[in-house]
Amino acid sequence: MPQDKTGDARRHSSSKLSVLRENPIFCDLEPEALDQLCRYAKHTVLKRGASLFAKDDPGNSLYAVISGTIKISISSADGRNAILNLVGPGELFGEMSVLDGQPRSADAIANTNCEIFVIDRRDFLPFVRSQPTLAMKFIELLCARLRWTSEQVEQVILHDLPGRLASALLGLVEKRGPDPESHTIAITQQEISEMVGMTRESINKQLRAWSARNWVRLEHGAIIVLDAPALRELAEAGVSSDE
Ligand code: CMP
Repeated sequence: MPQDKTGDARRHSSSKLSVLRENPIFCDLEPEALDQLCRYAKHTVLKRGASLFAKDDPGNSLYAVISGTIKISISSADGRNAILNLVGPGELFGEMSVLDGQPRSADAIANTNCEIFVIDRRDFLPFVRSQPTLAMKFIELLCARLRWTSEQVEQVILHDLPGRLASALLGLVEKRGPDPESHTIAITQQEISEMVGMTRESINKQLRAWSARNWVRLEHGAIIVLDAPALRELAEAGVSSDE
């Protein structure tokens, strides 16, 4: 019925507004600018495993995750995979190609069923040019990406497996915020091995050793960090400790 449709449309636009208002990148926009952004953002659902784009595709859209997790990864011709990031609720991705006009730097695949907002580059570029505060937020986001990548390079070159694994787990916990729920990381051991560049067997052995010390708890498809300070000490020292 037309009346219901109008009601639905109003409900959707108000939930869109509240989701965008809570996003740390968009939260400081003036109400009119947020309204404009709402008109640009298209709500989309993705099934687990759906590919959103592949490395080297043209980058025509910016994405904001509402629920679920998007995997950002690259793969080699012989089928090996490296996970660069797992993007969760409140985070953005796809900003690099949207801002610099170059092809996509990595693949994006739905790691779980997801709800996302899609914003077209043709709407977004003039919008960000008209909003200096927003442009600054994107500079901060790109700085954060560079810091994250530098940290990964440092870990790969200078640290051993325990340090790398500890650092990767802490990175995933810390970007999810301070609440205790954030200590549960929905990730498989295969995925974590693709993130730190070690075999799944070595990851499993190390995680079981930490589980015996109550530093982590292992659940099906999830790792719960119980003792972040112990892992931090290991990540910062980078010394070997297989026991
Ligand atoms: P874009 O290049 O448009 O598409 C792939 C996206 O993955 C990219 O924008 C970033 O949003 C994200 N991305 C690429 N490289 C990294 C990285 N090293 N760490 C975190 N996110 C990344």
